[in-house]
Amino acid sequence: MPASNDPTAKAWPENVGIIAVEVYFPSQYVDQTELEKFDGVSAGKYTIGLGQSKMGFCSDREDINSLALTVVQRLVERNDLSYTAIGRLEVGTETIIDKSKSVKSVLMQLFEGSGNTDVEGVDTTNACYGGTSALLNAVHWVESSAWDGRYALVVCGDIAVYATGNARCTGGAGAVAMLVGPNAPLVFDQGLRGSHMQHAYDFYKPNLSSEYPVVDGKLSIQCYLHALDKCYKVYSSKANTARKNAGISEPFSLSSADDFVFHTPFCKLVQKSVGRLMLNDFINESTPYLESKHDELDAYRDVKLEDTYFDKQVESTFVKASKDMYSRKTLPSLKVASQVGNMYTASVYGGLASCIAKYSSAAELAGKKIVLFSYGSGLASTMFSMTATDDYYEGSSLAKLHDSLKGLQDRLDSRIKVQPETFDKTMKLREETHHLAPYTPVGNTENLFNGTWYLTEVDEMHRRKYERKPVTGATEKLSGNGVQVKELI
Ligand code: ACO
Repeated sequence: MPASNDPTAKAWPENVGIIAVEVYFPSQYVDQTELEKFDGVSAGKYTIGLGQSKMGFCSDREDINSLALTVVQRLVERNDLSYTAIGRLEVGTETIIDKSKSVKSVLMQLFEGSGNTDVEGVDTTNACYGGTSALLNAVHWVESSAWDGRYALVVCGDIAVYATGNARCTGGAGAVAMLVGPNAPLVFDQGLRGSHMQHAYDFYKPNLSSEYPVVDGKLSIQCYLHALDKCYKVYSSKANTARKNAGISEPFSLSSADDFVFHTPFCKLVQKSVGRLMLNDFINESTPYLESKHDELDAYRDVKLEDTYFDKQVESTFVKASKDMYSRKTLPSLKVASQVGNMYTASVYGGLASCIAKYSSAAELAGKKIVLFSYGSGLASTMFSMTATDDYYEGSSLAKLHDSLKGLQDRLDSRIKVQPETFDKTMKLREETHHLAPYTPVGNTENLFNGTWYLTEVDEMHRRKYERKPVTGATEKLSGNGVQVKELI
């Protein structure tokens, strides 16, 4: 991959965006139908009611550092990238194991062999939004006067676990790494962003000794939908200005982009969100895409958005009317979310990866506009978009990006299913050992995917040590004091 670290050689960067994407999820999952039985809830609540089929989870062998190490090294290796080519590294996470030391600083161990320590960026936190803030920071750096010609790397990752009760089934775990730079195959649409930021206690983590959040489930859904309305309004208004300038009179609507990808706490909320965007379009009289007349919508012409968050009639009417849009433009992006669960900061980017993977070829992906909605409780949210380039020839960066995600379903299928009893025991173990020092993890390492970093020890000073499951016959160790050791086995 070309990258120059000669700042004098740089030109003003154009077409800044995402060049490569890597997705990591744990190698084990619990089946949601089996979890319904185990939890004693009515059959269909998690699977049909919330739209989840499987939930990935980690044993005590994995933490946020190991998830980030795994996904970064995988991205670097698969793209044949040099660590010297990276000038900024941003991490977005809400899985906090240290109140001071960043995950980014742990990742710097991977850079040691290259001698590159000139890498800006640290961690960003705000529930599920930290990854988006990290990504926007990375884009801004490449577009700024501080850019030195190198790539930015963004890592989003979380272990989403809830106390026993109705929220537990909406957990998950995983990480996504994204390489950002100029002349990218997925280019950020300039000036097209709508944000909504507001104070709310919908989901937060005030108990620093626990992994679990305090969550007001109903309020969190209301906040999510409210943020969606607000972001869509700002995004659409900016898009309308751009469209007018381009001579397009038809206002922006659900029909104007090829894909809509959402932060996904659970898939049913995303299906409702597409219905909600149609409700917005309908109120704003931006629904010329509804070819046949939908008389059933007429009663809702004058509804106020803020009165409808839990109005089942409005919800079901617009979910039904938007079914075709949802199936074509959003459902395929739920591949990872439905089979892994909520990955918090990584959720919307697991959606982006799934969306890219839906296209059967780079030629099909070429020119597609993808709108993303990122939401983090507390709350911070942004709607933004990117467009795939038209360069789909073999060997192009678009073809490479597309090809790199072809194996997503196979990797999901290669995971190991464990019984809900084992999942429950694992959650208890994580509860009891979270923040214990000294501590030696007991989880099995046999079933981890090759190339996964895992925790081997927490010493009496809370320093963590990691090893990597061999990819090709070599075990790598991170000693915890910053020295990387490679041992041939
Ligand atoms: N068959 C089919 N559907 C069923 C069944 C069944 N047997 N039983 C229940 N359902 C449906 C319900 O009707 C409901 O659907 P609806 O909302 O479309 O009416 C759905 O399943 C869920 O049932 P509820 O009773 O509403 O679920 P509960 O209140 O127990 O928990 C909740 C759901 C609030 C989402 C909980 O899991 C939670 O708090 N999760 C974490 C918070 C969260 O994810 N918030 C989202 C934004 S913030 C973030 O990203 C973390």
